Amino acid sequence: MSLAVYPGSFDPITNGHLDIVQRALKAFDRIIIAVAVNPGKEGLFSVPERVSLLHDLYAEDDRVEIDSFSGLLVNYLRKRNAAAVVRGLRAVSDFEYEFQMANMNRKLYGKAETFFLMTGNDYFYVSSSLVKEVSKLGGCVTGLVPESVRQALEDKLGGVK
Ligand code: PNS
Repeated sequence: MSLAVYPGSFDPITNGHLDIVQRALKAFDRIIIAVAVNPGKEGLFSVPERVSLLHDLYAEDDRVEIDSFSGLLVNYLRKRNAAAVVRGLRAVSDFEYEFQMANMNRKLYGKAETFFLMTGNDYFYVSSSLVKEVSKLGGCVTGLVPESVRQALEDKLGGVK
């Protein structure tokens, strides 16, 4: 049974992330969406809030597990006995950062490989940070995030259409 870890901040999850999960499920039997705990970076949503939103979205899909991890991703991969990491690529601008991370992870843990999937055309411009900025400034994010996330953004920030 093939298993991949899809790590990220997911602050919050967007439809672009969901699109990557669906694509990854064509290649892997099981996906763990792993929310990284980053003590140096306070998010809009707490890690438990992000995990809870993800749990609700994938409650019906037993191919998808939701988890969080602290410390190095490679240590989490080792712990979960996972040999594949999935990351989405939206544009060339993502490439340099992803290339560095994939190579560093490979150096630290040669047993795992990173698999890059191209985000669907509808989402190549969607990022969690832009969604948060648009929401904070009162813009409409319908269609860019799941309805539960749109609602959560509204609850947190108020006034989001
Ligand atoms: O969604 P993001 O913020 O682009 O995800 C980045 C993430 C969480 C995948 C990356 O920062 C990470 O793996 N963090 C865990 C700590 C770690 O292993 N750092 C070294 C990466 S080479």
